Amino acid sequence: MRALTIAPGITNSAAAEDVPEPPESDGAVLVRTLALGVCGTDREIVAGLYGWAPPGRKRLIVGHESLGTVEHAPANSEFKPGDLVVGIVRRPDPVPCPCCAAGEWDMCRNGRYTERGIKERDGYGSEFFRVEPEFLVKLDPSLGLNGVLVEPTSIVAKAWDHTERIGRRSRVWAPKTLLVTGAGPIGLLAAMMGVLRGLDVHVLDHNDRGPKREIVHSLGATFHVGELADLSILKPDILMECTGVPSVVRDALGRTAAGGIVCLLGVSAPGHDLDVDIGGVNRTMVLDNDAVFGAVNANRQHYEDAVIALKRADQRWLDSLITRRVPVEQWTQALVQQRGDIKVVVDFS
Ligand code: BGC
Repeated sequence: MRALTIAPGITNSAAAEDVPEPPESDGAVLVRTLALGVCGTDREIVAGLYGWAPPGRKRLIVGHESLGTVEHAPANSEFKPGDLVVGIVRRPDPVPCPCCAAGEWDMCRNGRYTERGIKERDGYGSEFFRVEPEFLVKLDPSLGLNGVLVEPTSIVAKAWDHTERIGRRSRVWAPKTLLVTGAGPIGLLAAMMGVLRGLDVHVLDHNDRGPKREIVHSLGATFHVGELADLSILKPDILMECTGVPSVVRDALGRTAAGGIVCLLGVSAPGHDLDVDIGGVNRTMVLDNDAVFGAVNANRQHYEDAVIALKRADQRWLDSLITRRVPVEQWTQALVQQRGDIKVVVDFS
């Protein structure tokens, strides 16, 4: 079968190649891939900056934003042939740590977790993949291709879950305003979940070319272009930072209304020494009871939350996020960002 592979640590080693059928050891459910989303993590992996091959191997099958249909499932599982499904990315560490033992692998404490298509486990970027039933999520068939958005939405569902848990430190927490920095897929999906919660949603991006403004407007949210520092009149109750750009992260701290929550979702490259008045930031955050936290990955509950959120969303709006489909043999073109791209998917159908 054809698969999308790379050699971790080696720049531009990406290829489409023939590989053996997926081993039974990957799980009892056999899935036929329909589509695979690509994201910044895949770009980093292909650039040789991130990613780990399975033990004893040089190459990794990439892909963690899956969508497929069940080809074969054990009779005693909840799956049957034809079901539309998405695979969960992370697997618990082998110890396991208390979080992994409790099914909260997204909170792994010892870093020994593995991830399909990212860390020491083959991904979902092949014509077929196998997966354990407990790491597979069933979707309503009406989601169709938009089901490929479940994995990125699960990341955002976790961000919302944790934001709301932190918010409940005050018994009367009632947020009204959300500011999202970055109108990429994660930012737009975070904004969508804010709209579903009835919040006044604002999205800031540095780029006004392409469809982002229109996509934000059609969500019923407000689009802003420029720097966070120029948006000083807006004091959001919640700020979701989805760019990972160091200067945006710096400007996000202390930017909320009192009692505000800043959720950091973008993974940035280290090595940026920025000028920051950390005493001033600290003073604001302490005196205002502000909270800042980071969030990565998602556990099963977040995937289920994501499926519910995507079902509630306007399907035409979701369609507008998938801006480009690339055939398997040209999959590396999916990684080269083009003007107007939001979510690019590799089409296996
Ligand atoms: C994936 C997460 C993963 C993270 C770090 C993200 O792109 O969506 O599932 O935990 O990368 O590897």
